[in-house]
Amino acid sequence: MYNETLRGEKETIVSDDGSLTLYSKEFDESYHSPKDGALRESLNKHVIPALTLHEGKSFLRILDICYGLGYNTLATLHYIKSQQLDIKVEIISPEFDEALVRSLKEFTYPPEFDTLRRVIEALSNDFHYEDEQFKISILIGDARKTIPKLLPAPCSLLTDKIDIVYQDAFSPKVNPMLWTREWFADIRALCSDDAVLTTYSTAAATRMGLHENGFELHYYDAPDTRISLIASPQRIESLEWIDMALKIARNPDARSLRDVELKQSL
Ligand SMILES: C[S@@+](CC[C@H](N)C(=O)[O-])C[C@H]1O[C@@H](n2cnc3c(N)ncnc32)[C@H](O)[C@@H]1O
Repeated sequence: MYNETLRGEKETIVSDDGSLTLYSKEFDESYHSPKDGALRESLNKHVIPALTLHEGKSFLRILDICYGLGYNTLATLHYIKSQQLDIKVEIISPEFDEALVRSLKEFTYPPEFDTLRRVIEALSNDFHYEDEQFKISILIGDARKTIPKLLPAPCSLLTDKIDIVYQDAFSPKVNPMLWTREWFADIRALCSDDAVLTTYSTAAATRMGLHENGFELHYYDAPDTRISLIASPQRIESLEWIDMALKIARNPDARSLRDVELKQSL
């Protein structure tokens, strides 16, 4: 399923908003949609809707799946600083490509991240950054192993649950282990009841995996990017709700991805 021998092989792409992203040979996919633009995709599909839906909160805990080039994490800090939001944030982000994270201190980010140099260097060197407003931890290793470790003790208190999930792995086709019903069960167990999960994938299997774990689903039409999905344990009245009962009636063959089937196909 994974091919570590190809993990180091990447090419730089200039995406349509001018921000740089990479193409991964291992997954045969780019880290961001070149058409939507790396920074624009990050802000418009993930950061802005998630933070707007939690407007007024003074603390948010975010799960950034997965760290990659760190755009979602860095765009979160950039947005909070530029909008002068009075909010503290903890971000936890799994990533198994340690060499990539170590290399990011040399990566050419867009000018919007210029004020985040200290953060970028700390994360690249130590996988950790902390100041009075932000605490960020990159969990090096396979997310299917590191994320379940967050489950029992720390998250038994409601205040410790996750408020936002940026579900931003490579696509279900090439990175299926991070889109299965069992993966979303772990994610749901970590989430607060008003958590917001943002993802670019609107695939039937993604919707089924989320729906089977009690998420309500909504389409999100972000400016200048393709339509995306916002899931939450609660219905969000301001968004276009997806009637999954109707979808299933119309397409009874739609199925979530399952761990067992992926393991059998190895
Ligand atoms: C599409 S990229 C993420 C882009 C990132 N959100 C950003 O804003 O730059 C997907 C990332 O998931 C990582 N990844 C894929 N499968 C993983 C796994 N099982 N555990 C940890 N990281 C994984 C890849 O190494 C890659 O960096």
